[in-house]
Amino acid sequence: MCIVESGGRLIRKGPGVVSTGGMTTAREARLRRHWDEEAEGFDRHIAPLERRFLAASREWVADRARGDVLEVAVGTGLNLPHYRDDVRLTAVDLSHGMLDVARQKAGASERPIAFAVGDGQRLPFQDRSFDAVVCTFSLCGFIDHERGVSEMARVLRPGGTILPAGPRTSGGPPWPRPSRAGRRCRSRP
Ligand SMILES: C[S@@+](CC[C@H](N)C(=O)[O-])C[C@H]1O[C@@H](n2cnc3c(N)ncnc32)[C@H](O)[C@@H]1O
Repeated sequence: MCIVESGGRLIRKGPGVVSTGGMTTAREARLRRHWDEEAEGFDRHIAPLERRFLAASREWVADRARGDVLEVAVGTGLNLPHYRDDVRLTAVDLSHGMLDVARQKAGASERPIAFAVGDGQRLPFQDRSFDAVVCTFSLCGFIDHERGVSEMARVLRPGGTILPAGPRTSGGPPWPRPSRAGRRCRSRP
């Protein structure tokens, strides 16, 4: 189910909380607003960590992604330059703002990418649609991580690969500007 893109069904969940069929709670709406606000400055804020810690993980993950690849929570598209030329890439994120930045980057390259606004906890794809699912530095910010992982498994073809990368939960490098999601992630044992 797509969150906001055309066809989303409007559902009123309670006073002031409206869902288009994907975002169902005020907490989820706040999370999306947070990432919309972060979008413009995200690459700048993350740059010091990017060089020292994150870029190597992006290379590792993207190098292993083959065939029909879904990137969940693509953010501003920092993994995009690392994919092999022959992958067929679909990318989802719940934030319009983050996706807009990713789209701009993709527009400057030759690779066609299918972008969709979508919730990783309710992926808008049929079962067994992808050969690989990539999710980097994002799962810890999902409200329901287990649901996120089972959705990745659901859309994966038999023999496919889930390729995650994330911050260490203890002793690892902190985020440059701790987001609500990042703080939750580090505080977990
Ligand atoms: C820390 S950023 C990481 C972005 C990107 N994956 C990267 O490696 O740079 C977290 C991203 O997860 C997205 N996100 C958080 N919860 C999500 C969900 N339930 N479904 C889809 N995207 C989600 C946010 O919108 C944001 O773009």
